[in-house]
Amino acid sequence: MCGIVGYVGPKQAQDVVVEGLRRLEYRGYDSAGVALVVPGDVISLAKRAGKLANLEKALADSPLPASHTGIGHTRWATHGAPNDVNAHPHLGHERRVALVHNGIIENFADLRARLEADDHVLLSETDTEVVAHLVELQVESGVDLTTAMQRVCQVLEGAFTLVAIDAHDPDRVVAARRNSPLVVGVGDGEHFLGSDVAAFIEHTREALELGQDQVVSITREGVEITDFHGHPAEGRRYHVDWDLSAAEKDGHDWFMRKEIFEQPRAVADSLLGRRNQAGLLQLDEMRLSDDEIRDVDKIIIIACGTSFYAGMVAKYAIEHWTRIPVEVELASEFRYRDPILDYSTLVVAISQSGETADTLQAIRHARTQRSKVLAICNTNGSTIPRESDAVIYTHAGPEIGVASTKGFLTQLVACYLLALYVAQVKGTRYGDEIDEIMVQLEAIPQQIETVLAGAQQVYDLAREHTGTRSVLFLGRHAGYPVALEGALKLKELAYLHAEGFAAGELKHGPIALVEEGLPVLCVVPPRGRDQLHEKMISGIQEVRARGARTICLAEEGDTRIEPYADVLIRLPRVPVLLQPLVATVPLQLFACELATLMGHDVDQPRNLAKSVTVE
Ligand code: AGP
Ligand code: GLU
Repeated sequence: MCGIVGYVGPKQAQDVVVEGLRRLEYRGYDSAGVALVVPGDVISLAKRAGKLANLEKALADSPLPASHTGIGHTRWATHGAPNDVNAHPHLGHERRVALVHNGIIENFADLRARLEADDHVLLSETDTEVVAHLVELQVESGVDLTTAMQRVCQVLEGAFTLVAIDAHDPDRVVAARRNSPLVVGVGDGEHFLGSDVAAFIEHTREALELGQDQVVSITREGVEITDFHGHPAEGRRYHVDWDLSAAEKDGHDWFMRKEIFEQPRAVADSLLGRRNQAGLLQLDEMRLSDDEIRDVDKIIIIACGTSFYAGMVAKYAIEHWTRIPVEVELASEFRYRDPILDYSTLVVAISQSGETADTLQAIRHARTQRSKVLAICNTNGSTIPRESDAVIYTHAGPEIGVASTKGFLTQLVACYLLALYVAQVKGTRYGDEIDEIMVQLEAIPQQIETVLAGAQQVYDLAREHTGTRSVLFLGRHAGYPVALEGALKLKELAYLHAEGFAAGELKHGPIALVEEGLPVLCVVPPRGRDQLHEKMISGIQEVRARGARTICLAEEGDTRIEPYADVLIRLPRVPVLLQPLVATVPLQLFACELATLMGHDVDQPRNLAKSVTVE
């Protein structure tokens, strides 16, 4: 999710807010806006799609009136395309309250329906605008902005950082947070709010970290913190000793490492709002009718790089849950092989950026052959979803590191959701079976946290391999694409020869590569899935017999693997189809740390671009 700034104090609020947004620019965004409380008890506002420069130009052309109280926002759209209308801040019905939001309001559709039934006119497609109307209804009823925010937060579901101003309370900014970042900057006669400290550290390094489900009210004189029911609460006071660069990376050395550690949140956000009140799966811009989905008799997944490996994992899940045959194709090869496409073929394009030329050309070809195209994308409003018939947006937030991490895990989540949705429509899985898998998915963020807690073991392992010139990765079933992705991470970041193999394929040639001391990372499948586990152990034995150093990723409690692992990295126990969500994380950490130790630029690896917009 993106950037938020709030200010109240003696300075020109517009300058402080816009400068704060500029310092949050690294977070990536698709639109930006600012709102001020100006004399005469009114809100003055400007917002533009595109880069911050567009907003700054609009402000230069028609400056807002002087003000000492204001809020600003850089948006990473989740609900509604990136355009001027959907940009934040959003106003209430009477234009008395302005509000900005990072996150996802899961129950916004029901709240919106109730507002519209009361003749509220909402101008945007966003989930956020609903909250602006609700907060304004409260202050119009006679309560102050702080109480209004508390009451509204009690009815919201999802993840949110909210910041609001009230035209009738010109010296106050009120904010709230749940599962989304917000920090207070404590100045002398002034106070700040920010998604992170980068928003205000040029003004103050004294900060207050807020807890879950808290509301904060700032004025020039002070800060008041409560819970959502008005009970007093405390923030954690601290001094910011980061420089701006560290602040942008939340204290991490690389955006990639920060994004690895953001994965629990990204996965949780990508699961938000996916079920309706009746518990049935609903997908944001599915736009394919149930009959169109029932007509699908073949699915072809097209993608590149890491996104291609997400498609390979998806094949296992989609075929198992829907019994529809799935082909996974490299986008750059797809249209040159004269693919067999028909109206009953669903083409699924997976792309984090939504701008990859190979994938874009492939879906254009598919559509000329009358196939429906569904995009799985992390960038709202980008070209690939715009040219698709339907889209499932991942909610990873902006991914800055060139090497994809949270983009990949959230693509897996979107693929699982697609498979379950199709199974729900086709009836190939009962509702209770789908519920069970959704519960398993909802447990994944915590399980990723468990893996991240063991990062030091992986870092130590990386340190042992700084002189390594070649690494193999083995996996079976859904672990095979994980092996390929682990190898790609090492290639991309450490510039090492690294190769992933289906473990069962090794004996058909590649085992000739194995020599004394060669590190082989083995993704061991969970037990209880046919002979998969035993077959994997056989593959591991084969490489060990030839001198390989086996580094095994295996679930907690798997003692069978112990005699065959020179190094054992434990994974939480998850179902075989979901194991890629936890097994990939140590491989990301390994590649990131090894590249760091080798002195490489992890965020901008040589020869690579974040989005490959040329064929
Ligand atoms: C992944 O680490 C790489 N940066 C690259 O393979 C990437 O996944 C590929 O270029 C596809 O990008 P997309 O998902 O934005 O389409
Ligand atoms: N869900 C809100 C929107 O789509 C906020 C997105 C964000 O975090 O920037 O406008």
